[in-house]
Amino acid sequence: MKPEMDAAVMRVIEGTQFVLGPEVAAFEERFASYCNVKHCHAVSSGTSALHLALLAAGVGPGDEVITVSMTFVATTAAILYSGAKPVYVDVDPVTWTMNPALIEAGITPRTKAILPVHLHGLMADMDPIMEIARRHNLVVIEDAAQAHGAEYKGRRAGSIGDLGCFSFYPGKNLGAYGEGGAVVSNNAEFAKRVSLLRDWGQESKYNHVAHGYNYRMDGIQGAVLKVKMDYIEAWTEARRSVASTYDHLLDKHRCKRPAPPAHSRHVYHVYAVMLEQRDEVQKVLQAAGIGTGIHYPVPVHLQKAYADLGYRAGDLPVTEQLANQFLSLPIYAELRPAQVSEVVAELEKLFLVAAA
Ligand SMILES: Cc1ncc(COP(=O)(O)O)c(C=O)c1O
Repeated sequence: MKPEMDAAVMRVIEGTQFVLGPEVAAFEERFASYCNVKHCHAVSSGTSALHLALLAAGVGPGDEVITVSMTFVATTAAILYSGAKPVYVDVDPVTWTMNPALIEAGITPRTKAILPVHLHGLMADMDPIMEIARRHNLVVIEDAAQAHGAEYKGRRAGSIGDLGCFSFYPGKNLGAYGEGGAVVSNNAEFAKRVSLLRDWGQESKYNHVAHGYNYRMDGIQGAVLKVKMDYIEAWTEARRSVASTYDHLLDKHRCKRPAPPAHSRHVYHVYAVMLEQRDEVQKVLQAAGIGTGIHYPVPVHLQKAYADLGYRAGDLPVTEQLANQFLSLPIYAELRPAQVSEVVAELEKLFLVAAA
């Protein structure tokens, strides 16, 4: 990609549109069409995308937002930035995403929105979530930070809820060369509000009509992301192929993984397995030169920073068990089948030891 990237970055430098500008606008158009939505506004990060989506939907002080604790802290942080309070429901043990059967118990007269997270690239069970939201007159905001191009019953991540939020942090499936994010929507009013609030609430230059933010995307990030739009589908299919090699090799072991429903397109931002001796396994793999991760070791409701929300260990049992047993195996588009076999061979040695 180097020649294309060099040219794209130089176009921004020579054009001197360092903030928003034509490259960002062209990327927004490409990304809206990729997500199959009418509107896309590029912003400075996934966190600012969530913050703006909440504000655009009218979420504010005194409101409650139903969400999950099995996520990166940004989901909760954005709700708190808006002045609202996060209310957690546990995740489903099969898909590891928001368990719709538990949502209604969390709804109160203060509930304003539901914010499911498409964890690791697998979309939450959106049909029942939307049905409950419509029945209770709630807004749905999808946290699709890990789910570029994921699908639920043929519909793309970000296109089912009232608003969808993406992160383009460099490690994401679609990553910028720095921070970046986007809010997508089919609702023209919400989209207009996001557009206004990301740029100081300016309706026109120095005409401020709302309390806004400096949440605009850089021109260089727009240019880089636009180049990457030509590759994202191939990269996603390559990730899915790596995942299917892992699936095939791990099927013979009792090694729990999420079960993506047949109607879903999981985009494998993370390929995680559940292992009882997770920490030991991680050390052994590390010694064999195989890097792994844990997404995430301490769920948000048990983080010190959010102790004031009043949750305790035991409140979200599925989330807590996953946090203790998750291990994310290496996955990226360029990982070769032989390397996947090598990872699984190391795991197999441990399974045999554990079984002996
Ligand atoms: C689920 C989830 N939500 C929100 C974010 C926040 O995105 P960013 O890091 O771009 O602010 C992330 C990224 O780390 C994420 O994984």
